[in-house]
Amino acid sequence: DVESEVLTLLSRMTIEEKIGQMSQLSGDGCIVSKNMRKAVIAGHVGSILNEVDLDTINELQRIAIQESPLGIPLLIGRDVIHGFNTIFPIPLAQAATWSPKIVERCAKIAAIESSNSGINWTFAPMIDIARDPRWGRIAESLGEDPYLCKTLANSMVKGFQGDSLSDTNSIAACAKHFAGYGASEGGKDYNTTNIPENELRNVYLPPFKAIAESGVATFMASFSDLNGVPVTGNNWLLTTVLRDEWNYSGPVVSDWEAVPQLVIHGFAFDDYDAAGKACTAGIDMEMASDCYLKHMKHLMNNNVISLDKIDSVVKRILTLKFNLGLFESAITSPNQPSNSLNTDHLSIAKEAVIKSCVLLKNDNQILPIAKSAINTLAVIGPLADDGYEQMGTWAFDGKENQSHTCLNALKEVAKNAFNINYAVGMETTRCNHHDGFAEAIDTAINADIALMFLGEEAILSGEAHCRSSIDLPGAQEQLINVIHATGTPIILVIMAGRPITLEKIISKVDAILFAWHPGTMAGPAITDLLFGVESPSGKLPVTFPRTVGQIPLYYAQKNSGRPPIDEKFINIDNIKMRAPQTSFGMTATYLDTHFSPLFPFGFGLSYSQFCYTKIKLNNKVIPMGGAVEVSATINNVGNYNAEEVVQLYIRDIVGNVTRPIKELKGFQRITLGKGESMVVTFKLHTDELAFYNQQMEYKPEAGLFHVWIGGDSSTTLKTEFEVTD
Ligand code: IFM
Repeated sequence: DVESEVLTLLSRMTIEEKIGQMSQLSGDGCIVSKNMRKAVIAGHVGSILNEVDLDTINELQRIAIQESPLGIPLLIGRDVIHGFNTIFPIPLAQAATWSPKIVERCAKIAAIESSNSGINWTFAPMIDIARDPRWGRIAESLGEDPYLCKTLANSMVKGFQGDSLSDTNSIAACAKHFAGYGASEGGKDYNTTNIPENELRNVYLPPFKAIAESGVATFMASFSDLNGVPVTGNNWLLTTVLRDEWNYSGPVVSDWEAVPQLVIHGFAFDDYDAAGKACTAGIDMEMASDCYLKHMKHLMNNNVISLDKIDSVVKRILTLKFNLGLFESAITSPNQPSNSLNTDHLSIAKEAVIKSCVLLKNDNQILPIAKSAINTLAVIGPLADDGYEQMGTWAFDGKENQSHTCLNALKEVAKNAFNINYAVGMETTRCNHHDGFAEAIDTAINADIALMFLGEEAILSGEAHCRSSIDLPGAQEQLINVIHATGTPIILVIMAGRPITLEKIISKVDAILFAWHPGTMAGPAITDLLFGVESPSGKLPVTFPRTVGQIPLYYAQKNSGRPPIDEKFINIDNIKMRAPQTSFGMTATYLDTHFSPLFPFGFGLSYSQFCYTKIKLNNKVIPMGGAVEVSATINNVGNYNAEEVVQLYIRDIVGNVTRPIKELKGFQRITLGKGESMVVTFKLHTDELAFYNQQMEYKPEAGLFHVWIGGDSSTTLKTEFEVTD
């Protein structure tokens, strides 16, 4: 069995070879450099990242297997974040599908395409709870909610890893960034995080714990400093929580050069000290830097790191290699049929876009566009015809010329039906000048509808791409204003890697379809939505604030002792303000803006309309250990057959620690024909009401619970039940 094979191999390894397994080096890009060859032959490298050329990867594996003393194959890592050659919507958009099935299929295809290129390990899913839309990496996250995140993360891992890691097309997944990275202060990447243990356990850790339990193959430690201890050197998180409490047995890799960065954090004196602290804390493999290679032997000689410790680390790494089947077949056949970007892959990519786009506004049902009602469509904006930008962040292996743009897809639809006049308006989304405005205005004046494709280009989100303002960048708001002034109705399609603050322009446009960064199949999917072949059904996985000053703003807030009660404003000297209050009447809100978001978590319109009624319980009193069934009737009262995401929320009214005013506890994506209705039932076990209390025990408490069912987190369709001891 694997365990005895690992032990036999370990017994034959030198110290240097063991340390080599703990090193991950960056590839040289389509060549095997002299140094890399030497390192692989000597057994001084366990893993290589960022090499995607199949011949090069096969050559590296061949050297490892045939020329290194023990023939140990390499782990080949890559950031396959939302597709490999076929680029799917960014993870935040995939979260907007609220569809575990779609998320799993996207990951499965990414695994097929990347494993055919020799990759056997992806650094995904990224499951940092993200509640600050300024943070560029929110694009890679699954949103703000632990329940939604853990549900979809499980599906993503299943998609990547398949039924067995040893299947040819399975790749190892990686739970990252463990943990708390999403709470970077001020939404600045790599920044400090301060998260009380209770919040860490109730909000940030659950997705990690969930996929650790369901078998994610590896973990990556966060770059960030957690409560004063950088995670790369955080013994409590990496060992006490991950190993001792959760019994997690897979390897933990550092983030890029995070080991030597312990020195920059001010947590280690030099690289020697950093290597000792990282290894002691629980980093098994060092990514991209060489502190382990240079100092581990010394650390062992000086009794800082024991041979036992090294053996336990190397065992985890070798076990993964055996589980992946690399000892039997590390060489990827170059002769397999190339199935990248095949019809199946593209059709799933299209479905993922269709289900992830969120309809935010649709005045007078301007959407869907009736082909017969228009003569000329003005298409305006820098994102209408840019195959690169629509792919979004972390799409290294997708090709611009393989992307289907919206302009091209619209031209197909328009054939013999209506005219399309196109004006880019602005060269890029960041551009500040108005040179293209005149042409865009001309185009709009002569059209029945102005269809604008605005938002953020790919580089404005992702790692190290944070923004202090999350308005539409550059001169885009001005462009909307001048097009609005023509009197032509505007349908705005936004592609972006994060929520955008839309308060200043929302009244200027008739409809908004939020498409995130949709990837390869943006054009065909968005066109189907615009022309009503499909109805939008995406729901926000993250709250959309009105203004950046409201951040952090998320639906699962605590009530406080003085919760906000109304949104009434008065005009003082023409300034919209809240009436001045005495300290008795003060509530947790702002004088100059609302406490509510522009669009709540879970929100998304459809071309149809869904009416929620008759919330019912099968029991009003539930003994601890039992379960309750909550149901509601959903009617499709609109004019379209459509899909809807039905959401279940609860509030635990009194807790040993205060509980959020609403918490998502279930969701179901349903399809309802027009005029049809359905009773949707959720079963909620009292275990699912558990949380970490003041004593850090994880348990449910008896008492009163409110429960809601609805189409978003602002639903008011409520009932209540009691849990008894
Ligand atoms: O996987 C990534 C990580 O998310 C950020 N730093 C670099 C790693 C490898 O590319």
